[in-house]
Amino acid sequence: MTDIELIHGDSLQALKGYTDNHFDVAIVDPPYGLGFDGEKTSMTISPNMESERKKFWKGKKVNQYTKKDWDKEVPPKEYWDELFRVSKNQIVWGGNHFELPQSRGWIFWDKKMDKGFSLADGELAWTSFDKGVKKFEYLWAGFKKKKPIKRIHPTQKPIDLYRFCLKYYTCEGDLILDTHLGSGSIAIACHYMKRKLIGYEIDKEYYDAACKRFKEQTMQQALW
Ligand SMILES: C[S@@+](CC[C@H](N)C(=O)[O-])C[C@H]1O[C@@H](n2cnc3c(N)ncnc32)[C@H](O)[C@@H]1O
Repeated sequence: MTDIELIHGDSLQALKGYTDNHFDVAIVDPPYGLGFDGEKTSMTISPNMESERKKFWKGKKVNQYTKKDWDKEVPPKEYWDELFRVSKNQIVWGGNHFELPQSRGWIFWDKKMDKGFSLADGELAWTSFDKGVKKFEYLWAGFKKKKPIKRIHPTQKPIDLYRFCLKYYTCEGDLILDTHLGSGSIAIACHYMKRKLIGYEIDKEYYDAACKRFKEQTMQQALW
């Protein structure tokens, strides 16, 4: 296998084909069942931030996404059974939306709302690791960033967020699983941090865009 393998397909069906503990760590970001899969905006901010936000976006291109239907429901029980069977450890973004075992090893993504704007002050990941809570700080869009970051997916996560997960919860050479690739941010992080990855994305448009993004971003490094 190549180190980074991006596959167009249904991850639930694919998981059934793997042996127990095949993957070192599964780092996943499944649908939360909130309908944030296209047109619906996820932006709620306080009124005093609204004028700042308008100023920030004025004249800048706002990301727009085709409406899709993948965020209607959370994955079925069968998915979780398979995920826990095929991987030794797990990190689940949006862990607060799912029924998962008790854990002390949560990750909090602090979105630095004092300097920017987003749906919430942060996001949570459940982990199977017996470690204390860890905090990752990252500002997506805000007054200190000159340009908004171009996104190709409505729920795209930062590459740096995955770099953080890989740094603190995995080792060089580990085989990582992502069952819901989306924009493929995790693939770029794995490439730079020398982790192997198998990632699945069911939507062809997202899959093609993720592959293109991966090639473009990793080719830049090759040129240098
Ligand atoms: C929350 S998004 C993932 C976003 C991703 N973490 C990122 O950084 O871009 C969930 C993705 O899972 C995909 N998806 C939904 N069901 C799937 C399935 N059964 N197999 C593979 N992908 C699936 C959706 O098309 C969507 O792109």
